[in-house]
Amino acid sequence: MPLVEDSIEKTYSSMKEKLHNVVPDFELRYKAELVYEINRRKKERGAVILGHNYMEPALYHTVPDFVGDSLELARKAAETTCDPIIFCGVRFMAETAKILNPGRTVLLPAREAGCSLAASITAQDVRDLRAKYPGVPIVTYINTYADVKAECDVCCTSGNAAKIVQSLDSDTVIFIPDEYLARNVAKETGKKIILPSESMQAEPTIIGWTGKCEVHEQFSPSDIKNVREQFPEVVVLAHPECSPEVTEASDFTGSTSKMIQYVREKQAPHFLLLTECSMADNIMAENPGKEMLQLCSVRCPHMNQITLEDTLNSLVNNEYIIELPEKVIKKARVSLDRMLELSN
Ligand code: 13P
Ligand code: SF4
Repeated sequence: MPLVEDSIEKTYSSMKEKLHNVVPDFELRYKAELVYEINRRKKERGAVILGHNYMEPALYHTVPDFVGDSLELARKAAETTCDPIIFCGVRFMAETAKILNPGRTVLLPAREAGCSLAASITAQDVRDLRAKYPGVPIVTYINTYADVKAECDVCCTSGNAAKIVQSLDSDTVIFIPDEYLARNVAKETGKKIILPSESMQAEPTIIGWTGKCEVHEQFSPSDIKNVREQFPEVVVLAHPECSPEVTEASDFTGSTSKMIQYVREKQAPHFLLLTECSMADNIMAENPGKEMLQLCSVRCPHMNQITLEDTLNSLVNNEYIIELPEKVIKKARVSLDRMLELSN
């Protein structure tokens, strides 16, 4: 929940109490002014702020009305009656909020906060896949742009991908654009995986694509091996955008919110998260007794673009408005609504 105080000094004190072990004091002093001003103006405008789990700790713990993974935030976006919706996340997430709320203003605080997965496939690529595999349903990971969603049959997120694939009445499914997520889902659902350049076999198959998350592709099984040698009791959690070799060598795989919940509920001497590194800071602030190991600073350059300064600017100057063609919104909405129905 947002940190609403009636003065900058009180905002600073509350931030200090919560964040002293992850954010330096000089930064808290400076950011308290921004947080106070954002929460004041948000109330004045009747806005809602949705924040992804990868936001930096001084933003994550202070201004969003709701935080969560892509699925939870899509659900919140579908329910909200506030206007404007400020999305502290990346563009495809803000587009999702717009598709679900075509009549409301959706603002993305940074002009360009992209995603390597969303950039890996175009609407024409999807039309070509449909022509190559007629009648095969197309599942798109939510990490795609609206025009790509508009060409697909159903969306999924890291929190429901296997469930969505299993719910389709088809042994063969096209799953775009994340190759590693597709490989992890194939393993979980007992299907074979091929890429469009490979030939089809007569068995249940996922036809994948070659997109990769530029953050999660950096982790390797040898990272896990090295950490386990040094900290034998470590519990390793990996996001399903990591390679199947990495998820195989980990103790738990799940969406960002499922990882947060796992650490909250389990006891272990150390946890290692193989995902965007702000999340470990956010968990440490919430659970000061838990020890999070940090391999190195692997930040998503796109999520990293969303700052408190930009969030304040978006409230003051109504920037940057997400605009999508009506036809695209209508078609993409079908894929998103189908996901929300199937994952209830
Ligand atoms: P989640 O839906 O698990 O939060 O993942 C979003 C994402 O972009 C991970 O890199
Ligand atoms: Fe995209 Fe990876 Fe960044 Fe998530 S972490 S937004 S998948 S580039």
